[in-house]
Amino acid sequence: MNVCVTGSGYVGLITGAGLATLGHQVICVDISKEKVGQINAGEPPIFEHGLADLMKTVVPKSLTATTDLTDAVKRSRIIFITVGTPSSRHGEIKLDQIEKISHSIGEALHDKKDYCLIVVKSTVIPGTTEKVVETVERVSGKEFGKDFGVAMNPEFLREGSALTDFFSPDRIIIGSPDKKSRETLKELYSSFSCPVLESSFREAEMIKYASNAMLATKISFINEIGNICKNLGIDTNKVAEGIGLDKRIGPHFLRAGIGFGGSCFPKDVSALAHQAATAGITPRVLRAVLDVNREQPNRLLAILDSHTPKGKKIAILGLAFKKDTDDVRESPSLSIIKELQMENSSLILYDPMGMKEVMKLFPHLTFASSAQEAVNKADIVLILTEWDEFKTVNFGDKLVIDGKNLLYERPPTNYEGVCW
Ligand code: UDX
Repeated sequence: MNVCVTGSGYVGLITGAGLATLGHQVICVDISKEKVGQINAGEPPIFEHGLADLMKTVVPKSLTATTDLTDAVKRSRIIFITVGTPSSRHGEIKLDQIEKISHSIGEALHDKKDYCLIVVKSTVIPGTTEKVVETVERVSGKEFGKDFGVAMNPEFLREGSALTDFFSPDRIIIGSPDKKSRETLKELYSSFSCPVLESSFREAEMIKYASNAMLATKISFINEIGNICKNLGIDTNKVAEGIGLDKRIGPHFLRAGIGFGGSCFPKDVSALAHQAATAGITPRVLRAVLDVNREQPNRLLAILDSHTPKGKKIAILGLAFKKDTDDVRESPSLSIIKELQMENSSLILYDPMGMKEVMKLFPHLTFASSAQEAVNKADIVLILTEWDEFKTVNFGDKLVIDGKNLLYERPPTNYEGVCW
């Protein structure tokens, strides 16, 4: 099928490259000429494991990029919306990019003769896809369900394993009141064998939020249990293993530590809590999830304080919000660095992939060229991202405080975990 993907950020690019690999003809659209140039040269503008190799096989045969939205829409049967939906300072979702792209797609549809399906893949609060329909109808003068279709189809891609998640999804959610829209999207995904759940727009939008909120809740839950366990001298990891063996609970997302970060969990839980409050419902659980998460880095700082670090040099191993990504957005490591800076601590930082971004944020800080160098030059070590390469570092008898459960099984001589 001919597909265009509007917004070539993380989700857009993975979706585009994934669909191209499945044999569809894909055009990625973006306003950034630089990004378009990179994609057409077969170079991913973002880092994701396996993406560079995959792009070599599909560009330009079945994946190209352009800044010309109208032309891409004219040539496509399916148009994905994968633009960003960031949060405001108060946690409210910002939908400007969705509104803008809906308007532009509406304009492009005005002269398009054949039927096409618009698929909202960006994470949007319930009620948004209905507004996309309204805008496209108003601007194009065409009728939803007759001239064009719309479906809400959330993504569940984890950074670092996004391509695996794309090719082996647990489920596909197709939200639309319109049968033809649902059938067209099912046809696009016909090579997948996972369950396909059909729903309304709002149900699909909410499934995405509720999924992320559930996973974030599991993390804050185990972190709270972990804080209690640490205080009572109980091994949190053994407790997580024990509860995870219950099939109703499951073993995933029970790794205690300094809390969740990244571009999704903090933003999505806040957006849902904000929407609930706007609707007059007090989101008690969601707020508690965010509260525990905000506090969790302080647990590690309290442990550090108990070891009287004044005047000692601290190595920060890990800046990315998790391993296998260069993404430092909402990384707990950054809030720990900010706190330590306020106390005028002497720091040396290292991350295999996240240093470029952090150098822009904290240009005056000292960065090491390897984890071992950072450790050699410091008195105390904080592990803030679970990179595998940190497991082979020689810590000698330096104090290592582990915020990510990395060295739990083979701890160094002088070791303390945040919840264990
Ligand atoms: C998440 C969702 O998993 C994905 O489905 C969604 O579409 C986008 O958001 P991502 O943010 O890439 O993906 O990472 P994920 O692996 O889910 O981890 C999120 C955060 O939780 C990370 O900071 C991670 O370190 C933390 N985490 C995860 C824990 O602290 N403990 C765990 O047990 C699992």
